[in-house]
Amino acid sequence: MLVTAIEARPLRSLERVRVPLGPGITSVVGPNGVGKTNLVEALYFALTGRSFRTSDRRDLIPFGGSLARAEVTVRDADGIERRLLASVSRTEGRRHLLDGSPADPATIARSRPPVAVFAPDRLSLVKGPPAERRAHLDGFLAARWPARGELRKRFGQALAQRNAMVARVAAGFGSPDGLDVWDAGVADAAAPLIAARGEAVAELAPAFAAALAELGLEGGALAYAPRADGDAAAIRVGLRERRDADLKLGRSSWGPHLDEVKLSVDGRALRKYGSQGQQRAALLALLFAEREALLAARRVTPLLLLDDVMSELDPGRRERLVARFGAGGQTLITAADEESLPAAARVSMVRMPSPGVVAASGDSGAEAA
Ligand SMILES: Nc1ncnc2c1ncn2[C@@H]1O[C@H](COP(=O)(O)OP(=O)(O)OP(=O)(O)O)[C@@H](O)[C@H]1O
Ligand SMILES: [Mg+2]
Repeated sequence: MLVTAIEARPLRSLERVRVPLGPGITSVVGPNGVGKTNLVEALYFALTGRSFRTSDRRDLIPFGGSLARAEVTVRDADGIERRLLASVSRTEGRRHLLDGSPADPATIARSRPPVAVFAPDRLSLVKGPPAERRAHLDGFLAARWPARGELRKRFGQALAQRNAMVARVAAGFGSPDGLDVWDAGVADAAAPLIAARGEAVAELAPAFAAALAELGLEGGALAYAPRADGDAAAIRVGLRERRDADLKLGRSSWGPHLDEVKLSVDGRALRKYGSQGQQRAALLALLFAEREALLAARRVTPLLLLDDVMSELDPGRRERLVARFGAGGQTLITAADEESLPAAARVSMVRMPSPGVVAASGDSGAEAA
């Protein structure tokens, strides 16, 4: 599955821009402020219906405008092309359309490649609270094993039901014994989620350590240590043991909704002790490990968006980074400065000399969408 083109029309500072994408690496080069990150955001928005920069999609609407819109063309293994269009409007809210019609998130997810973003301001995945890492890992689970894509949601629903009952009983409505059935619901949903996360981390950990070493940091580790481990029966027992404490608190104090995914070097958490450069390297290494796992499973062609990554790396690491992408998949790299790109990343290069103007390498004309 390949993304063959991205169009922003309009999105933030991009009035109307179309950029064709091929397999392998496409680079987008242009001066600061020209709209490279906006283009990456447009691509992410068209595929997922979300932004990686903001939780308020209306931020994507051009200043003084009323609508933001981005569209991608995706070609599947049989050569069939489909179009995904995301939009947000001040008056009509947001839409995510597949070939012009509204589609549910699961159908859309099946019609597009999994996408991961590296951007300097995404370091919160490494240094932020555990919830971000859990959500990220669960997102990988869904891409790697589509049948497990529902595990997070199912657990969330079971937990919300138990929490509601805990709050009710704590407020004096109903007997604590009434919680048995909700404990069972949480335990049944928790066990497969915990097992799937464990399997995912076991698969990613060696590739994570290897990629981090390649980026100059030895001793890296990725680990998942669930609070609640074991089968559903064991988790049910654990919930029963904590029932009194939970009733005092008014919520569930134990389970996979509190788990941590640990990124460390020499046993020390990068979240707490990592330097900026080390945290950056860890984020890259995690995205690489996921990409390799998806490629190895031959499920899909993952799309990796690397915004402004070259400026963070020395020349040797840039070369090694680009060499990683020779093997397959699709990668979009942005850079302010062409010299920072290794030769292999300059083969398919799009220049953005001024806002809204794009030209493929060797091509002098602007491409109007
Ligand atoms: N909602 C918006 N409407 C119009 N323009 C916007 C909007 N949001 C941001 N911009 C403008 O977009 C421009 C920045 O674009 P972008 O972040 O994509 O630049 P860039 O090419 O990635 O630059 P750098 O190399 O510095 O990262 C800025 O001029 C900013 O004012
Ligand atoms: Mg930028």
